[in-house]
Amino acid sequence: MESQAKKKGSFTSSLGFILSAAGSAVGVGNIWRFPYLAAKDGGGLFLLVYLALVMTVGFTLLVTDIAIGRRTKKSALRAFGSIRPKWDFLGKMTFLVPAMIMTYYTVIGGWVTKYAAMYAIGAGAKTAADGYFTSFITSPVSPIVFMLLFLSATALVVYRGVEKGVEKFSEYVMPGLLLMIVAIALFSLTLSHTGADGSVRTGMQGLAVYLIPNFEGLTFGRFMGILLDAMSQLFFSLSVSMGIMITYGSYVKKDVNLSQSISRIELFDTGVALLAGMMIIPAVYVFFGTEGMASGPSLMFISLPKVFEAMGFAGHIVGLVFFVMVVFAALTSSVSIMETLVANCMDLFGAGRKKVSLAITVFSAVSAAVICLGYNVFYFELTLPGGGTAQLLDLVDYISNSVLMPLISALTCVFVGHVLGPKWIEEEMTASGHRFGRRRLYAFMIRYAAPVMMTAIFLTSAGIL
Ligand code: PHE
Repeated sequence: MESQAKKKGSFTSSLGFILSAAGSAVGVGNIWRFPYLAAKDGGGLFLLVYLALVMTVGFTLLVTDIAIGRRTKKSALRAFGSIRPKWDFLGKMTFLVPAMIMTYYTVIGGWVTKYAAMYAIGAGAKTAADGYFTSFITSPVSPIVFMLLFLSATALVVYRGVEKGVEKFSEYVMPGLLLMIVAIALFSLTLSHTGADGSVRTGMQGLAVYLIPNFEGLTFGRFMGILLDAMSQLFFSLSVSMGIMITYGSYVKKDVNLSQSISRIELFDTGVALLAGMMIIPAVYVFFGTEGMASGPSLMFISLPKVFEAMGFAGHIVGLVFFVMVVFAALTSSVSIMETLVANCMDLFGAGRKKVSLAITVFSAVSAAVICLGYNVFYFELTLPGGGTAQLLDLVDYISNSVLMPLISALTCVFVGHVLGPKWIEEEMTASGHRFGRRRLYAFMIRYAAPVMMTAIFLTSAGIL
């Protein structure tokens, strides 16, 4: 077992673990996905629901994954089966999620790379033009080229192994990105725009839309929609219930204080998402009004260039530094997704890292190219059970984050809460001699609240309820 852990690499310090896990958690999910969902769902209310979920469900799932990983010292694929052979199927199921996310994560990574490149050649201002983003993603070649660039970078890191790759990246990128986001968010608040009819919209008004929950006209159906969005975002953002945190947990040394590390990961991931919302949503409100809030996945790409444009000359530099940092944040996440796929396949086929990395890279390149073509050749508009129209990328995102992940979490909760019992996790959480904070909350969540919620969410998003 020891030698297997070595072969996969292990973290050298608890800080390395926190930063790497945070590196996996913080990515385009925080900067691109969170703000567009929050905007679509009316700001404050989404925020409230999301925060409540992070502190309860998010915490529970994160603890579960990481503790299972560290206790079994195995990747998700084998972890469940090694505890109870009957539950081996759950490990196999978790494998599906990173495989699905991998197909579109690099596409978004490619979009961000394209924007970074535009700013790098001094053409950032062009990206602020109306319709620029749509014309880019619907073009046949460019999105594929940038996706391939991004994917190659990811593959290179994975090919070299965890320790050298992931750890080093995260230590520099995460703090830098946080600083950038805070600075841009503060600038966003100072914006104002006078419409053709003379009405003025300010960044501070936008902040109010973002922060203050609006219960007006709230129906049960709409609330369920918000809950579903927030839940899917939670899984995606914390990288839980897809085996990734199990794999990372398996790299953590026994003396690391898990409870504290987990709180930090939670805090960091949520903090970045909240700040990213503050950077994007007031700006959207200023430039496009409330109607602009529903623009979905394109939100960040159409609003931020406008913010940078408003900065004048400095905007070229801020835009460049910002998009480069987002590329890195996305990279640390896509590395973690690919790393999990590679670790699983190494386990499954007993093959070496290099060979497996290459195979996964080819799979990713082909599937991501198909997703890119979802905006032209394979374009369709599908109405999802939760409302909203989807293209290929959104559909895969929906299947993985809204359908599969709640199902996997529900099963994991039943397994841990009722087959193993919360004690099993507790023992691991306190194995280092440290306290397990929120222990009671954990036991209640894993046994009762979480499985019921996850099942309800799965049934709703699968269109069964
Ligand atoms: N959590 C990452 C983000 O927020 C994305 C991710 C999803 C990473 C799944 C790993 C696994 O961008």
